Amino acid sequence: MNTEQGTDISKAAALLTADELVAIPTETVYGLAGNALHEAAVCKIYAAKNRPAFNPLILHISGIDQLSKYAMVDPISALLAAQFMPGPLTLLLPKKNIVPDITTAGSNKVAIRVPKHPLCLELLHSIDFPLAAPSANISGYISPTTAAHVVAGLNGRIPYILDGGTAAVGLESTICEVLHQKIIVHRTGGISADELQQVSSLEVVLANNQKTVETAGQLKSHYAPNTPLYRGDISDLIACNPGKNIACISFQKTYEGVENFVLSPSGNLAEAANLLFATLRMVDAGNFDLICTELFPNKGIGPAINDRLGRAQFLHK
Ligand code: TXA
Ligand code: MG
Repeated sequence: MNTEQGTDISKAAALLTADELVAIPTETVYGLAGNALHEAAVCKIYAAKNRPAFNPLILHISGIDQLSKYAMVDPISALLAAQFMPGPLTLLLPKKNIVPDITTAGSNKVAIRVPKHPLCLELLHSIDFPLAAPSANISGYISPTTAAHVVAGLNGRIPYILDGGTAAVGLESTICEVLHQKIIVHRTGGISADELQQVSSLEVVLANNQKTVETAGQLKSHYAPNTPLYRGDISDLIACNPGKNIACISFQKTYEGVENFVLSPSGNLAEAANLLFATLRMVDAGNFDLICTELFPNKGIGPAINDRLGRAQFLHK
């Protein structure tokens, strides 16, 4: 299959209407989209990215007025939606029957978001169905923040990439759920826990994400480069690996004797988040023996950066 790239919304809409797949830009990362209500299209998504069938997909809708078509919306979730949608927040809600089981991998809950990207919103307004869209990478690899990243993983597997430029946030959406009078954060992301906390008096808690897929976005090894990645005190990691060709991905500092990739010399976490995945891909394409990185400050989007780097670490199988 020939993979084309462009900004033709009617072409994207026509392909999606015919149950074909299209990679779409969002403000977080690129998504691999198909009609969320058609099993045939959803099957193609799992196949194209080698995604395990037990890992459910997020529904992308054109606006919060569409939420109640696909899910039961409690009052606090409605408040969160009003505050943060469109934007990098995904709500986990009890699903309605119109959403096929394959889209939620058999779960009776559905994850829904309204992406904040003009091309993507225009596309969603031009079709009359929601889009199921996981990140547009081969399962387990680093999420794409440009059309070129999508090509690198999915070229020849999908007919069209809607090119919306570089993703503004660069990390995936925050996934949360209102449960037992708490706001549970299943995956940290573009909206911080502090921002969620400002919307209601309910306690915001981070889910214990060591567990399983039961908790969204939490496969243990994920976002992983092929080059071994270690996290810790970078100076110590360098000292422990003499003679190795090392790439350091740091927040602000540079180190001697290695290739430095500083994500934000001025100490801006949003800038660091925005560059993280592109930098990981670039480093992975270089000839490094290993990647050294560190813990980022634990505020704002910092926990989401730390979560992704934690999952990108080299695991001895
Ligand atoms: O920013 C994002 O959320 C991007 C863009 C494309 O929208 N999408 C994204 O999708 O990151 P994906 O599939 O790569 O990650 C979504 C995570 C998965 O880990 C999945 O397990 C979880 O959301 N998820 C989706 N539906 C769920 C459900 N019904 N119950 C529990 N977890 C769910
Ligand atoms: Mg993903």
